[in-house]
Amino acid sequence: MDQRFIINGGRRLKGEVHISGAKNAVLKLMAAALLLDDACEIHNVPELADVYIMVEVLKSLGAKVDYDTKEKKIRIDASELTSHEACYELVSKMRASFTVLGALLGRCKEAKVALPGGCSIGERRIDFHIKGLEALGAQVKIEGGYVIAKAKKLVGTTVYLDRPSVGATENVMIAAVLAEGSTIISNAAQEPEIADLANFLNAIGADVNGAGTSEIVINGVKQKDLHPTAYTTIPDRIEAGTYIAAVIATKGKAVIRNIFPSHLSAVTSKLSDMGAHITILDPFSIEVSCGKSLNAVNIVTQPHPGFPTDLQSPFMSVLAVAEGLSVITESIYENRFRQIGELTRMGANVQQEASRAIVKGVKSLTGAQVRASDLRAGASLLVAALIAQGTTEITGLYHIDRGYEKVVEKLSGLGADIQRLNIPESDINAKINVDEIYLT
Ligand code: EPZ
Repeated sequence: MDQRFIINGGRRLKGEVHISGAKNAVLKLMAAALLLDDACEIHNVPELADVYIMVEVLKSLGAKVDYDTKEKKIRIDASELTSHEACYELVSKMRASFTVLGALLGRCKEAKVALPGGCSIGERRIDFHIKGLEALGAQVKIEGGYVIAKAKKLVGTTVYLDRPSVGATENVMIAAVLAEGSTIISNAAQEPEIADLANFLNAIGADVNGAGTSEIVINGVKQKDLHPTAYTTIPDRIEAGTYIAAVIATKGKAVIRNIFPSHLSAVTSKLSDMGAHITILDPFSIEVSCGKSLNAVNIVTQPHPGFPTDLQSPFMSVLAVAEGLSVITESIYENRFRQIGELTRMGANVQQEASRAIVKGVKSLTGAQVRASDLRAGASLLVAALIAQGTTEITGLYHIDRGYEKVVEKLSGLGADIQRLNIPESDINAKINVDEIYLT
């Protein structure tokens, strides 16, 4: 049954919210668990649609997966893999499953993984992944919509990435764990999720150094050196940033718990420029508040430690009601402004000029029927709905459910008036496009 959110906006969010484990870290740890011919446990796993898809991918390869949603942990036993092929039906549902390429190649020395293809937010090429794996000695070809990679052995080398791609850094790092000798990834992505993956790999016996900087060194180890572990993943900085956006946009005051404040420094710096208040309460909590109108600011999305592209859309909703003119430049994706049309329907004044969005702050937004076109565009609509006067109905919820665990419970806990309702069979408008493939 398709669903919608009904949100009555205009309430100041207050209280506290507990942030879940990081989707974009957990999914990669799950793929990396394939390196181990034994079992391991990952803790702090959020219950999200994407995690369920990754469970299916791992099972399709022969891994035994036990997902305990109550305890928020996953046990993956990859001791007996039965396949090295990840099929299109699964990979096309979720791009992160492409990370099994590096793990299967490292472990089995062969892998056949469906090409994820482009997606609604951009072309999302995989050329750096392929170049990196070839540099390690793999023969890689693309045939029938699949990447087919084989190697007699992988040998460490220097892999320079033309740009610090998160996915390419992860695939090469995972594949290099069982390579002979040392691999250096130069111009590596520095996102916290990369450091988390390296910490997980080290916890199972790998030798990875420098993750979180632009140069990562992986000293190859032998399969017998890898061993079981129980590992707790990092908090989701993008989920945290989304709640921060919602709190300040509604002129509220809330404590954001279970975060690493240093992962959010680009965001908190912008918050100060906007006139919001941020107090670090302890190593894992901050308080954010905003009692008055926010100032307009300019934002340029950049690889970490720059302002994250994944928070560009929710912050556009905040700036839609800030005082003055803001310019948002999206430098990571070609098409990540898909929320603009819907925000405009809610009364926002945003003009897109190529990769820039010019946001002229308005006094307030008004509720409307809107549709989420991708995960973070959906987050942008949530924030806008919480600000808006009147009722907003959001459809396309499967996008939002991919990245925000228990979003209704968490927002209600902050005092929002939000309900998740089933869409009646007779409501044709709300059901249009529900079968579109989603892939971010
Ligand atoms: C990860 O995607 C995240 N996804 C994205 O989160 C996030 O937006 C992105 O990193 C940037 O931070 C997951 O972790 C599952 P990239 P990824 O490789 O790895 C180009 C969300 O909302 N590129 O750093 O795919 C590419 O086209 C999402 O949670 C190449 O040209 O990102 C893109 O424009 C969406 N060739 C840019 O680099 C390549 O071989 C950044 O991509 C690889 C990438």
